[in-house]
Amino acid sequence: MAGWRCALAVVTMAAAGVGCSSGALDPRGPVARDQLGLFTIAFWIAVGVIVVVLGLLVAALVQRHRDAPSPFRGERFVVVGGLVVPTLILLGLMGVTFAFLAAQRTEGQLRVEVDGYRYWWEVRYPDHDAVTANEIHIPVGVDVEFTLRGPDVIHSFWVPQLGGKADLVPGRETTLVLHASEAGEYRGRCAEYCGLQHANMRVLVIAQEPADFERWVEEQAASAVVSDGAAEAAFERNACAACHTIRGTSANGVLGPDLTHFASRRTIGAVTLPNEPSNVAAWIANPQVFKPGAEMPPIVTFTEEEHQRLVDYLTALR
Ligand code: CUA
Repeated sequence: MAGWRCALAVVTMAAAGVGCSSGALDPRGPVARDQLGLFTIAFWIAVGVIVVVLGLLVAALVQRHRDAPSPFRGERFVVVGGLVVPTLILLGLMGVTFAFLAAQRTEGQLRVEVDGYRYWWEVRYPDHDAVTANEIHIPVGVDVEFTLRGPDVIHSFWVPQLGGKADLVPGRETTLVLHASEAGEYRGRCAEYCGLQHANMRVLVIAQEPADFERWVEEQAASAVVSDGAAEAAFERNACAACHTIRGTSANGVLGPDLTHFASRRTIGAVTLPNEPSNVAAWIANPQVFKPGAEMPPIVTFTEEEHQRLVDYLTALR
């Protein structure tokens, strides 16, 4: 079973750059599993239809060759084969789909709000007063209710191993319930073309044991863990604070990701680069090298000393 799924995954997802191990065909939660079930039913029905149609085609060719009258002709065959059978198949598929939709969960035990910006995700935990970006931690075994918003353009939130995609549409809220039944890291991405850096608008979902999640979310809700007057002044002087917030300091910009616990994240630039000091240094000097078209401009105003100081400061914000 896994074999055909893997082969199909390779064929259908290679173009999207989604590997076999992280695709919708390798579900890690009940929502994704139900969706795969629905897909599997539709897939095998389609295979059956193709086999029957091709079989009829071959039979017709053979009959023609023999110059004998074909049994597959006449009005009755056309009506049954061309109208009745397809209608029954489509009605059956519709019934299965409606049953699936009716069984969908619409509420969860944990609320997470996700805002899709160009080209990153803001992630809020309203029950814990915590905020982060591009990395969503969730507890294992819990229905998580995502409220999705798209403040600027339409994005689509998709974590294939946990469930199907949902659009983030300006002016309205979309709800999506996902559930991870195993701890692990699940890669997601924006699945709707939203501009130049659509392909680098990825998201990392980290499913943790509930106790680990509670610890993490409490840390994220706290203010900055280090205080460095010189770095904070450099952050202010070079206009970083106009776009970014570091809670517990005077930096309170809202255009870019909240950086209060920046160093606790595994990646920067929405899963574009590993969060390592050399990458942070290169990124803050000129993000356009890595994400041309992203909203963050190159910072040309800082001195070499300020640059190093900012990298040290940011990479200490755990
Ligand atoms: Cu956001 Cu594509």
